Amino acid sequence: MDTEDISFPFIVITSHGDEHIAVEAMKAGALDYVVKSENSMLDMPHIAERALREWNHITERKSAEKKSSESLIKLHKTMDGIINAMMLTIEARDPYTAGHQKKVAIIAEAIAVEMGLTQDHLDAIRMAGLIHDLGKIYVPSEILSKPGRISEAEFDIIKTHPTVGYDILKTIEFPWPIADIVLQHHERINGSGYPGGITGDRILIEAKIISVADVVEAMATHRPYRAALGIDIALEEIKRNRNKLYDPDVADACIKLFEERNFTFEL
Ligand SMILES: [Fe+2]
Repeated sequence: MDTEDISFPFIVITSHGDEHIAVEAMKAGALDYVVKSENSMLDMPHIAERALREWNHITERKSAEKKSSESLIKLHKTMDGIINAMMLTIEARDPYTAGHQKKVAIIAEAIAVEMGLTQDHLDAIRMAGLIHDLGKIYVPSEILSKPGRISEAEFDIIKTHPTVGYDILKTIEFPWPIADIVLQHHERINGSGYPGGITGDRILIEAKIISVADVVEAMATHRPYRAALGIDIALEEIKRNRNKLYDPDVADACIKLFEERNFTFEL
């Protein structure tokens, strides 16, 4: 226990001058430690006043810290709410992939946990995962929900969605590089992805994780143009292209998650 945890101010007065007792008293939260003597007793009003000043200072700081952490929590909640609203807006236009972004966010976050990434990375991955297809707002819904094969021209339109998402999100000052993660979620480590065709060393770890989660979710579940392929086929794809299209550490964590940790998500 220390002064931070004490709910009332106190000072310790003792008749023994002992360094050990002094340390213990301060550790227990005492604001001061006084050895009884004629002089120290005469000085008591001054000692008490100094202790109270210190106490007020501690209480004020504690209340300011509480307020700032409360407003940070509120801010996070607001941000979560806005992200969620954005996610629902995109998915309202594209019912076939409704729930896709949420599932990608869940899978991606689980991969990141498996990889031992920091809370900051986890937050970035969850937020970006929930809105990674935001740019599809620009793609006509006939193309998005087309049951048959799509033409090259239609695919060219679909391929604009990471850039469109980036252009929208770059206007918001997030505490994480959300716009860049969204921009890079279709890049592949060998440079065969889009829109930049950039290689592994230039792709953010968050984007590498979301891209693997995106492939797994998309292959495992039903799409307008095909039936669900299932999780086993999805994992085979990740294994086959480990270190070619997909970052090897991300691929390994993903495979471990499903095969050893029995991770599942709602199909
Ligand atoms: Fe996408």
